[in-house]
Amino acid sequence: MRLHNQVAIITGGANGIGYAAVERFAEEGAKVVLADYDEATGIDAASKLRDSGYDVTFIQVDVANRESVQQLIDRTVETYGGIDILINNAGITRDAMLAKMEPSNFQQVLDVNLTGVFNCTQSALPHLISKGKGKIINTSSVSGVYGNVGQTNYAASKAAVIGMTKSWAKELGRKGINVNAVAPGFTRTAMVEKMPENIIEQMKSIVALQRLGVPKDIANAYLFLASSESDYVNGHVLHVDGGIMM
Ligand code: CAA
Ligand code: NAI
Repeated sequence: MRLHNQVAIITGGANGIGYAAVERFAEEGAKVVLADYDEATGIDAASKLRDSGYDVTFIQVDVANRESVQQLIDRTVETYGGIDILINNAGITRDAMLAKMEPSNFQQVLDVNLTGVFNCTQSALPHLISKGKGKIINTSSVSGVYGNVGQTNYAASKAAVIGMTKSWAKELGRKGINVNAVAPGFTRTAMVEKMPENIIEQMKSIVALQRLGVPKDIANAYLFLASSESDYVNGHVLHVDGGIMM
């Protein structure tokens, strides 16, 4: 029980990596808020986990909307009395080559992947500070570290998340709050399933382990960074990509 009685908010928890993290954290004794835009899937996922005896609550949120985020934080504190862990996992892609990228798709990806992380962290912060300890984990990407064809918007957002992570690690360390990022490689979820099959194969071939990740690979990294085992890890970007570029 590495997270016994810890209150964790996991954004984008209804699907893919976020769902794997909700399940993993619940297994380790956390009280988990599954926060997602996707209401139908989120309600189903939370009720399935509650039926298995876990303490999971669904709260709908649009991380790009500050009012909606404030409601998420207020409802979490009403339900569980505080917040110990925030996993900023929600994210979207709107891939296109630079020449064809719609400005609205550039903006939308920045709004969710970057401003969404800012919104959630700023709103949760007073509650983490009042406890004098806490863990914030931001989701970056291999694309934010190395760039990727067709991902001007996404790579920019994920690189910016790394800059924010390191700034917050410096700013919040003295408050007892650790801030780290995970940079997943290509991981089998709906996000990757949208890619052309030949490009998925091309990506797989450059991974030293010669396979794509699975959501649990990333959830386990979140778990390490959320648990006391990582108490002296701060401002780090943990690459969980099977070895793409080293
Ligand atoms: N790496 C290398 N080459 C790529 C590429 C990639 N990721 N994506 C596209 N290309 C190449 C294509 O093979 C093609 O090459 P040729 O001209 O030699 O044939 C060229 O770029 C143009 O591609 P398309 O013909 O497909 O152009 P399009 O305008 O129809 O579509 C696209 C462009 C939407 C970007 C489409 O190619 C695509 O979806 N590519 C995949 C982009 C990608 O890797 N997204 C990652 C999604 S998963 C994720 O984001 C999670 C994460 O954090 C990693
Ligand atoms: P996914 O598409 O399976 O799940 C994303 C979840 O975020 C969905 O449940 C969706 O409803 C939710 N979401 C989207 N917009 C939201 C919003 N505005 N407010 C609240 N929730 C919202 O994607 P996946 O693959 O599980 O991605 C999770 C995170 O991991 C994302 O930040 C993604 O960018 C990142 N990532 C994924 C990789 C992959 O290969 N799958 C690789 C590197 C990073």
